[in-house]
Amino acid sequence: MPKSCWITGASSGIGRFTSLRFAKNGYIVFASARSLKDLNSLVNESRSLNLKGKIIALPLDVTDTDEILKCSKFISKNTKNLDFVILNAGTYIREDSKFATIKSTKKMIDLNYTSVLNHIIILQPFISTLNIKQIATVSSIAGWRGMPMSAAYCSSKAAIKTAIESFAIDYNNTGVRFRIFYPGFVKTPLTDKNEFKMPFIIEAEKAANIIYKKLLFSNKFEVSFPLSFAIIMRLITMLPWSLYKLLMSKKR
Ligand SMILES: NC(=O)c1ccc[n+]([C@@H]2O[C@H](COP(=O)([O-])OP(=O)(O)OC[C@H]3O[C@@H](n4cnc5c(N)ncnc54)[C@H](OP(=O)(O)O)[C@@H]3O)[C@@H](O)[C@H]2O)c1
Repeated sequence: MPKSCWITGASSGIGRFTSLRFAKNGYIVFASARSLKDLNSLVNESRSLNLKGKIIALPLDVTDTDEILKCSKFISKNTKNLDFVILNAGTYIREDSKFATIKSTKKMIDLNYTSVLNHIIILQPFISTLNIKQIATVSSIAGWRGMPMSAAYCSSKAAIKTAIESFAIDYNNTGVRFRIFYPGFVKTPLTDKNEFKMPFIIEAEKAANIIYKKLLFSNKFEVSFPLSFAIIMRLITMLPWSLYKLLMSKKR
């Protein structure tokens, strides 16, 4: 039976290219996002490229736990080898914390953090029946420390790290591995909205290649990319608070 994977946020940006990358290498990809139209266009693209594997559109709003369960059941009827689950769906709303709204804060926390945890919890009974080998989450370098205009986004992405660390510890030696990706800037509809300069920005196809290769050929628990930007940001986020605050205040 061919290997398969489940990718959320597959209708656009990083998730879309990651879906194509897995399909190119013979995987059956269950591609989830809310927009059926965009998922169908992904399926059509994969067909026109004559890829070894295939993409199956599986519409899902990841903030709806009933829908996650329904999709998990659908997948378990269609495969017994769900090697990878890539929880990538997410959003970014740039806003000055002074004017933050409960609505936008809730939206980002619900989607970027709570839905990821809910998804893993709902999947737990399927881990052995579906032979799930890896559950990967897509955080962000922006989750390493508080950044300007991004209180909800940074905290939603930071929370993924501690939660996944706990899961990884509790699942030690059980056969399923947890992974965290920390992208820097990637050119997608999410960043196309940004008017500020985005250093070291990479194409979504390149981000997808990195995710694919690291999932298949690396054992690292945490993967940050692009490397040069990750190194610079690691150093910046290690600065003492007063210096870090001064530097970040200039970026506003
Ligand atoms: N681009 C970057 O520079 C960057 C950097 C660091 C981290 N990231 C993270 O990488 C991930 C992908 O981002 P991207 O840049 O590829 O963004 P994107 O192009 O805007 O794609 C976001 C994807 O998430 C889906 N989505 C949004 N809300 C959803 C919901 N409620 N249920 C299911 N799917 C939903 C969208 O599809 P629908 O609207 O059709 O649902 C879309 O497929 C995000 O978690 C983001 O935070 C991105």
